[in-house]
Amino acid sequence: MKILVTGGLGFIGSHVVVKLQEEGFDVVIIDNLSNSDIKVLDGIVAITGITPVFEQLDLREKAAVSGFFKKYTDIGGVIHFAASKAVGESVENPLLYYENNIGTLVYLLQELQKKEQTSFIFSSSCTVYGQADQMPITEIAAIKKAESPYGNTKQIGEEIIQDTCKVSPNIKATALRYFNPIGAHQSALIGELPIGVPQNLVPFITQTATGQRAQLSVFGDDYSTPDGTAIRDYIHVVDLAQAHVTALKKLLENGQATNFDFYNVGTGKGSSVLEVITAFESVTGKKLNYKIVDRREGDVIQAFADTTKANNVLGWRAEHTLEQALLSAWKWEEKQ
Ligand code: WQD
Repeated sequence: MKILVTGGLGFIGSHVVVKLQEEGFDVVIIDNLSNSDIKVLDGIVAITGITPVFEQLDLREKAAVSGFFKKYTDIGGVIHFAASKAVGESVENPLLYYENNIGTLVYLLQELQKKEQTSFIFSSSCTVYGQADQMPITEIAAIKKAESPYGNTKQIGEEIIQDTCKVSPNIKATALRYFNPIGAHQSALIGELPIGVPQNLVPFITQTATGQRAQLSVFGDDYSTPDGTAIRDYIHVVDLAQAHVTALKKLLENGQATNFDFYNVGTGKGSSVLEVITAFESVTGKKLNYKIVDRREGDVIQAFADTTKANNVLGWRAEHTLEQALLSAWKWEEKQ
């Protein structure tokens, strides 16, 4: 049996491929290299010594997707990362997001409907909650109107999977609602490779620390939080990768009560932007050059996870601290 990882050369996907291989799974990667680099494959092999099968194809091509499943008839599980994920870009180019994030999901699920039995893990996001009314955020928190087409594609994506699972008991699916993935594999052989100016906080911090960026802008310090800066739940990408393997094994063992379920995947701890900066400075000994500027459009004030369901039902718990994640991000950046 093989496990298909779409977007498997991406930041989270590559860390999941490593974990899957370490747990003895036979991995096939699909990636169109639109937001990843083929050299990530070398990083994976350098870590595990196992070369995954790699198919460069675009899941927006329906014929290519069905051709893939004709060629690989023994795909027992799919972990689906391939999607566009830049919030700002989605506002400027919504149709790119609806085609790439929704169209490809439909084509994949249409193929899985034809199969005997498949386990499907969907890359979702805490963005589905928008600005939740109370912290920490539980899975029964209201799904609010998405603040961006990107967030909307995650909400719609979950609904498409839920509706499909209702009529296709042969598909068992889990959506993992990520909080903020950061860090890199301890080998520093794989990590985050933002293209162009990083949108996310931690890669911008590490590139400021190497001097590649002159100064970090902190987007607002007038939020209703203890130090005025926005709070997020930063989870080590290696912990996040483990959550995917744990969720997949649970589905493969038929251990999920319903054939669609979803979990918050975070640490359960909120950290403000200034706390992240302070933690980074203390673990690296680097002084960070930053300035406070205006808020960024669309940012929520706070988002951190209640991880009770993931801990008790999924049977997974984050193990790394914020400091460990930041140090791993720094080691990776130094190698770049
Ligand atoms: C974190 C905090 C910023 C950059 C987004 C997506 C989410 C997921 C993760 C894909 C915020 C502040 C940031 C900077 C800053 N992506 N910040 N200066 O916005 O919480 O989540 O990325 O799945 O879906 O919404 O992450 O890292 O962009 O921002 O002050 O240069 O850091 O305002 O408070 P975010 P982020």
